[in-house]
Amino acid sequence: MNEQEAAAELERLAAEIARHNRLYHTDDAPEISDADYDALIRRNREIEAAFPHLAREDSPSRVVGAAPAAHLSKVRHALPMLSLDNAFAEEEVADFIGRVRRYLALGDQAELALTAEPKIDGLSCSLRYEKGMLALAATRGDGTTGEVVTDNARTIGDIPQRLSGSVPDLFEIRGEVYMSKADFAALNARLLAEAEDSAKARQFANPRNAAAGSLRQKDAAVTASRPLRFYAHGWGEVSALPAETQLGVMRAIAGWGVPIADDLERFTDLAGLIGHYRGIESRRADLGFDIDGVVYKVDRLDWQERLGFVSRAPRWAIAHKFPAEKAETVLEAIDIQVGRTGKLTPVARLRPVSVGGVTVTNATLHNKDEIERLGVRVGDRILIQRAGDVIPQVLRNLTSEEARPAYVFPELCPECGSEAVREEGEVDVRCTGGLICPAQRVERLRHFVSRHALDIEGLGITHIESFFRDGLLQSPADIFKLTRETLLGRERWAEISAANLIAAIDARRRPPLDRFLFALGIRHVGEVTARDLARRYRSWAAFQAMVDSALAIRGEMTPAIGEEERKFLQRRGKAVVEAVGTPNIGPEVANALLDFFEEPHNREVIADIFAAGVAIEDVVHETKESPVTGKTIVFTGTLEALSRDEAKAQAEALGAKVAGSVSARTDLVVAGPGAGSKLKKAQELGIETTDEAGWLKIVAEAGG
Ligand code: IVH
Repeated sequence: MNEQEAAAELERLAAEIARHNRLYHTDDAPEISDADYDALIRRNREIEAAFPHLAREDSPSRVVGAAPAAHLSKVRHALPMLSLDNAFAEEEVADFIGRVRRYLALGDQAELALTAEPKIDGLSCSLRYEKGMLALAATRGDGTTGEVVTDNARTIGDIPQRLSGSVPDLFEIRGEVYMSKADFAALNARLLAEAEDSAKARQFANPRNAAAGSLRQKDAAVTASRPLRFYAHGWGEVSALPAETQLGVMRAIAGWGVPIADDLERFTDLAGLIGHYRGIESRRADLGFDIDGVVYKVDRLDWQERLGFVSRAPRWAIAHKFPAEKAETVLEAIDIQVGRTGKLTPVARLRPVSVGGVTVTNATLHNKDEIERLGVRVGDRILIQRAGDVIPQVLRNLTSEEARPAYVFPELCPECGSEAVREEGEVDVRCTGGLICPAQRVERLRHFVSRHALDIEGLGITHIESFFRDGLLQSPADIFKLTRETLLGRERWAEISAANLIAAIDARRRPPLDRFLFALGIRHVGEVTARDLARRYRSWAAFQAMVDSALAIRGEMTPAIGEEERKFLQRRGKAVVEAVGTPNIGPEVANALLDFFEEPHNREVIADIFAAGVAIEDVVHETKESPVTGKTIVFTGTLEALSRDEAKAQAEALGAKVAGSVSARTDLVVAGPGAGSKLKKAQELGIETTDEAGWLKIVAEAGG
């Protein structure tokens, strides 16, 4: 993989992961399994490791979760709520321990104690206690901003209104809201029984979704009717800590009346941790709730403090995941779903089967190749797995060769009958119906108004579908042509609701350039690319001018013939990338962008949007304030209070770059005892130097 490909791939991953985060955290409706999600995160991390300078500002390794839901009010967490790195194999746990030891510069004899406790599959929640009284409960949200769910949390029996005993003035308890498997099954049964129309009954896919959906209710009475539970696994902002170790603080929390994990224990070696992991794993099915691994945490809090965080996760903890739970069932049908971009996704409809206590009826088959690879046909017995997943995977076909015919992937889009084609080098089959395909039109409209695009509140999928059906909404421009009168002429629209929707639409008539570009749903142009383009071009006029000149350049390049073709395509890729002229945008993305604007229909749609009274807001310069931001720092000699990694992490957290050698571009040299040639060179070049104490002062003053 070359640099350009890596940048394009990181870009694609950022957009894809952001979308799955949104589906999982905001919509409680994930589309891929946890294992597939983890694979995306890993791939992102691997590419970033190979090309560290390409790591994006909005890389998934730095951003957690997704934006909060609209119906709940928001709160900024006093301390961010982060995530955990995963380990799957024992060796990865050993690596983690090795990393911690190295970072802390522990000698061979030094004891390193870690706690181990189950990782419950629920949703994290922060409970802020002031003078022992519950003052605020918030979900994680995007990690920085969560949703206020205080009234809802008060209805959960495990969450006390008042902590007992002597509690610091301020103490934020963090933990997991979850639902037991039995309560989940009973809830789904109840929802089904209560629904007027069983086909439309809202069912939860798994206990985690049920817990999330139940906690994030507008009406606390609904939450109260749901059997939610809570256990603490950590803390956020506190005025004082009751102990100096993880275990000590967790026991204090239990003493105040908040449940903690039954299986929380402390170990001083790898064997102990692994033994505990295996013990919990063997009891997994009997625990009564879904767990997906065991979390290990460095016990000493002063060490946790030194280890700190790297992007989205603490260096002092890791989640050791369990392998997936499996079951056998029958493949009853293969349905094809058509996505916003026209992608045809095959979905396996299964004879219902219980996997790890959850009834599973669907599994993903990903694409045409996957069906062929598995060799599955309708009627086959198959092995599926669920790793705390919502949508399980099909692992294997268990039916031996029979005279049954192989599955034939459709050649026509099941939604609009247009031809479905697979482009050279692509895995996905796509409908070519574009704007005439109802699946894509509705999806395009939904995408256009979605939270990270134009964010039009109150224009949800139900309204879009009904407006679409009645011919009121055909293209995005129609949104801006909706009037109060039109709405009032419809069933179930009253003065207030109509006025609200019109106001929400009017509030978006000046969208920022990046949101608008993202909203257009251009292939390969996710939020990240849209932002890059907006940063580069700043106004619609400048962007449009670039597109026109890039199209002209691309148009002039007539295709060569025969063997030359490949070389030609490479040259064309390069020319197009240069013409688009935006960092991080490679040939695939650049060409997709130009393809979009080359299509007259798309230009018409945009012209219509502007004609309906929309104008794009220019990008105003963003400034970033931090004393050492953008500076290049070299550490040399022996550091005593800090390890090299720790110093480097501090510098990077303050927005500085760390270099290995001194040059004219170096801004600061931090020299410890024994510093030699680098210090000398710095002095010769007249570069500012300081010692470790001086560095620590800089860090302290910057609040790092
Ligand atoms: S510790 C700084 N311990 O897993 C983050 N998390 O994948 C520290 N979770 O957001 C988190 N059980 O919601 C921790 N025993 C446990 C956990 C646990 C479940 C969740 C938590 C976290 C997510 C990370």
